Amino acid sequence: MNSNSKKLIIAIDGHSSTGKSTYAKLIAEELNYLYVDSGAMYRAVTLHCMEKGLFDKAEDPDINLVINELSKIHISFRRNPETGQNETCLEDRVVEKEIRTLAVSGHVSYISTIAEVRTKMVALQREIGTDGGVVMDGRDIGTVVYPKAHIKLFMTAEAEVRAVRRQKELEEKGIAEDFEKVIENIQKRDRIDSGREVSPLRQADDAILLDNSNMTIEEQMKWFFETFSDTP
Ligand code: DC
Repeated sequence: MNSNSKKLIIAIDGHSSTGKSTYAKLIAEELNYLYVDSGAMYRAVTLHCMEKGLFDKAEDPDINLVINELSKIHISFRRNPETGQNETCLEDRVVEKEIRTLAVSGHVSYISTIAEVRTKMVALQREIGTDGGVVMDGRDIGTVVYPKAHIKLFMTAEAEVRAVRRQKELEEKGIAEDFEKVIENIQKRDRIDSGREVSPLRQADDAILLDNSNMTIEEQMKWFFETFSDTP
């Protein structure tokens, strides 16, 4: 497989903090494909609801209030000409930074359990990938969004390894966090992602497992192109 390969759909799901988005982005770059961060869409919905004050009144606002907002939410991706990366937009506003805050991370799990939110996001994700040539990462890409994706990966790593990576990421952002807290948060996110009723995180039957606990990103890239070298 190389950048002349036919326009495939590559679905990358897995546990949080396994490096899915870094990996998906690099694969997309290598193949000259579009990279789509489906988590960013759930984060953008969450940001909109926060800005509308829905979370001021309750930790988990009434589902109907969130559903009422849905028709007013317009999410798109725009290529930043300077970085070459896709940025998430709410209406015409780039919100790439705003959706990565801890406050949004704290509320997004709730928003992503709402079936109506998921239906709207899945429709948008399918629309973006209509022409193929896309690498999409998330939790339900290989199971729900693209059950017929040409390549499906399921990424995991030991919780301790993920916590070390997450702590380093936070440190780089100037946030010092206790290791125990970081690992607890990772385990909690695993439980929420895998335990929710609608589209829980699970490995699709035909997805290939990648446990990157002891792999560098270079080794993972090599593994990908060796594993799928026969894919046309
Ligand atoms: O990958 P991330 O941490 O940016 O995802 C943000 C949240 O959205 C996380 O709580 C899981 C959820 N999510 C989801 O339910 N389905 C997806 N396809 C992608 C993310």
